[in-house]
Amino acid sequence: MNSDNKIKVLIGEEELLEKVRELGQKITNDYKGIPPVLIAILKGSFIFVADICREISLPITFDFMAVSSYGNSKVSSGVVRITKDLDFSIEGKDIIIIEDIIDSGRTLNYLIKNLEARNPKSIEVCALLDKDVPRKTKNKVKYKGFDIPNKFVIGYGLDVAEKYRNLPYIGYIEDKE
Ligand code: IMP
Ligand code: MG
Repeated sequence: MNSDNKIKVLIGEEELLEKVRELGQKITNDYKGIPPVLIAILKGSFIFVADICREISLPITFDFMAVSSYGNSKVSSGVVRITKDLDFSIEGKDIIIIEDIIDSGRTLNYLIKNLEARNPKSIEVCALLDKDVPRKTKNKVKYKGFDIPNKFVIGYGLDVAEKYRNLPYIGYIEDKE
C-alpha cells in the first residue's frame, strides 16, 4: 500500500453510531431479566463492543477472546487459531458473541462450535458487518449492523496489517488507476 492509495468512506461515523444505538436497544429489550455475557472477539471488535455496551441498559458482564485467521494477509487462511481464550466459564450463561465482520464465515462457525461445547444456556451473534460473499452454511446472526459489498474494509476496529483500526468510520482503500 502506498501513499497514492485513497481511503473512501463506506459507512460514516453518524450512520455507524445510529446503528450501534439501535442494536444496543434491541439487545436491551430482548435480554430483560437475563443480562447476557458479551464475548468480544479481539482485536477487530474492540471499538464496536466499547460503543454498543454503553447502549445496553442491563447489568451485562464481559469476556474477551482473540482469534487469528488472516495473519497479516487480506485473505483468510481458513485456519482459526485461538490466541487468547476466555477468562471465565460460560456454562449456563446467556452469551452474545460480538464480532466485527463476517467474511467467509469460517471464524464465526468455528467460534460457535467451540463455545457451544462449553455448554452455555444460549448463544446469539451480534456482528457489525456482513460481507456479500457466497457461503455454504447460513450464519446465525441475530443482531446485524450492515450488509456490505465484497470489499476489504478498514476502520472502526478493522485493520489491514494492524493499521487503520482507529479510523472513526468504515472505509476501503481505492487504488488509483
Ligand atoms: P472470516 O472467517 O472469513 O469470516 O473472517 C472473519 C475475520 O476476518 C473477521 O473477524 C475480521 O477480523 C477479519 N476480516 C474479514 N474481512 C475483513 C475486512 O474486510 N477487513 C478487515 N478484517 C477483515
Ligand atoms: Mg481481524
